[in-house]
Amino acid sequence: MPHKEMVQKIDRLRKERNAVILAHNYQLPEVQDIADHCGDSLELSRIAAKSDKRVIVFCGVYFMAETASILCPDKTILIPDPMAGCPMANMIDAEDVRQLKARHPKAIVVGYVNTPADVKAELDICCTSTNAVDIISKLKNEEIIFVPDKYLADYVSKKTNKRLIAWEGYCPTHVKILPEDIIKKVRQHPGAKVMVHPECRPEVVELADEVLSTGKMCAFAKKSSAKEFIVGTEAGMIHRLQKDNPDKKFYPASENAVCPNMKRTTLEKVLWSLEENKTVVSVSDDIRRRARRAIDKMVELA
Ligand code: 13P
Ligand code: SF4
Repeated sequence: MPHKEMVQKIDRLRKERNAVILAHNYQLPEVQDIADHCGDSLELSRIAAKSDKRVIVFCGVYFMAETASILCPDKTILIPDPMAGCPMANMIDAEDVRQLKARHPKAIVVGYVNTPADVKAELDICCTSTNAVDIISKLKNEEIIFVPDKYLADYVSKKTNKRLIAWEGYCPTHVKILPEDIIKKVRQHPGAKVMVHPECRPEVVELADEVLSTGKMCAFAKKSSAKEFIVGTEAGMIHRLQKDNPDKKFYPASENAVCPNMKRTTLEKVLWSLEENKTVVSVSDDIRRRARRAIDKMVELA
């Protein structure tokens, strides 16, 4: 089907179905362009919760759609491709967290939003890359477990001077960004500001001017007086940044940092999702209630 016709069909169906289309900042450019809102994982869930639409088409990875479902159980959350998982989120399961808790009974358990719903149900507090440093700095506990991202844990631990009991998870896309990539790009663009995501390796984080979540990257690029930026995160971010700031230039730190799961969502799948009301993401009441507690605690603290 020609692109224009597909976009027209999506537009017609989103009205008929009373739907809103949300896209994470890593989505394909054409998906970002038809979305009602683009944003980071938490921003999108918040938009979903505030929306007066009945149906949310969540163009992102599975845990993000689940988080939206936890925050707005009365709405229909659709994911255009249910196979779009986050490998880092799947590096830990609920039983792993229960075993960690048994080994460290006095510890408080903090978990990144990049976790499945049943893992969130085991957490004391959830956090995102935007607020992880703030949340950990406010905790008074002697022992803090942090799951699943060991690199985010390392960054937060250095920023807060707190020792964290970290799980060995990592993002297979962000580890592809190497320190030599940053050094090379800085040589090519000497005036550019370097911003990287805290999921990057510590050796990459060390070379950055700013360590930011994708939402914070958007805000920083807008307000900064710099005209050029080297971007150490998933490739889709470049489209979002360039669109918001046409007078500035954005260079990916590495062309290899492409999240295949984020790229599973295509315009065709968004259309099928609206046509067939597929695939509905839901979370059982018990898991939702317990996971919601960890998310509410984050909102209260951050
Ligand atoms: P953000 O919350 O910064 O958008 O990050 C989500 C993610 O999956 C990063 O890889
Ligand atoms: Fe998960 Fe990494 Fe993809 Fe983000 S970029 S969704 S953390 S695999």
